[in-house]
Amino acid sequence: MPPISLSDRLLDHEEIRRLSMQSLFENLDNICEGTVVVDRDARIIWINERYATRLGAISAANAIGRAVEEVIPNSLMREVVTTGQPILIDLLETTGATFVVSRIPLKDEHGVVIGAAGFAFFDQVQSLKPLFAKLENMQRELATAQKRLAEERRPKYTFSNFIGSSPVCMEVKRQARRAAQLDATVLLLGETGTGKELLAHAIHGASTRAGKAFVGVNVAAIPDALLETRRLHRR
Ligand SMILES: Nc1ncnc2c1ncn2[C@@H]1O[C@H](COP(=O)(O)OP(=O)(O)OP(=O)(O)O)[C@@H](O)[C@H]1O
Ligand SMILES: [Mg+2]
Repeated sequence: MPPISLSDRLLDHEEIRRLSMQSLFENLDNICEGTVVVDRDARIIWINERYATRLGAISAANAIGRAVEEVIPNSLMREVVTTGQPILIDLLETTGATFVVSRIPLKDEHGVVIGAAGFAFFDQVQSLKPLFAKLENMQRELATAQKRLAEERRPKYTFSNFIGSSPVCMEVKRQARRAAQLDATVLLLGETGTGKELLAHAIHGASTRAGKAFVGVNVAAIPDALLETRRLHRR
């Protein structure tokens, strides 16, 4: 038997690669439950019948040529063709179902993105159920906390809440309104209970930062000892 030359071995290597690619694609249908291939404009060029059915499309043939989002709402295939980056593991929440999905870009021999392939696993979602439940719980708790924080940080008073029509009050209000127009730090001085905090809320609400959080810090509640340690650290 003649020895195998280097070029033969390279050919062999190429051939194995070509065959494995081919068989991978031919087996896609069996490997995962849902497969979709899009072109570089994120139009469906291939989808398997099972996936089309699960998505509520009349048939796979019916889905061909349509923008991927029309058939798979919330699909990120367009992002994959645009960025050329794969999204290896993700959850796709689409028409009434959640799938575990994997998306990879398809490139030509020059590395130019020519499309993308998406794989969806239907039943694996079941085994991930406990994880979903945990995630959902955490998301719900986060949403509640964020809502509460936003409420807490919304300015509670406006200038109309500031009662008083005496010249002094009018002047204070006039100055506060002007301060609200400026991007400057404002120092409010006055005896306790005279409405400094009320004015601070009003100034924030009338400023360009109105949409952002109002964060009130009650300096009086910070223990002296703590302030003292900060002072010592600064020395
Ligand atoms: N001019 C005003 N119009 C309407 N409500 C006022 C006015 N001034 C004070 N108040 C009310 O009095 C209470 C105390 O006001 P605020 O908390 O703004 O005082 P403060 O100047 O921040 O006091 P402290 O120095 O004790 O923190 C609040 O309920 C506030 O709504
Ligand atoms: Mg105050």
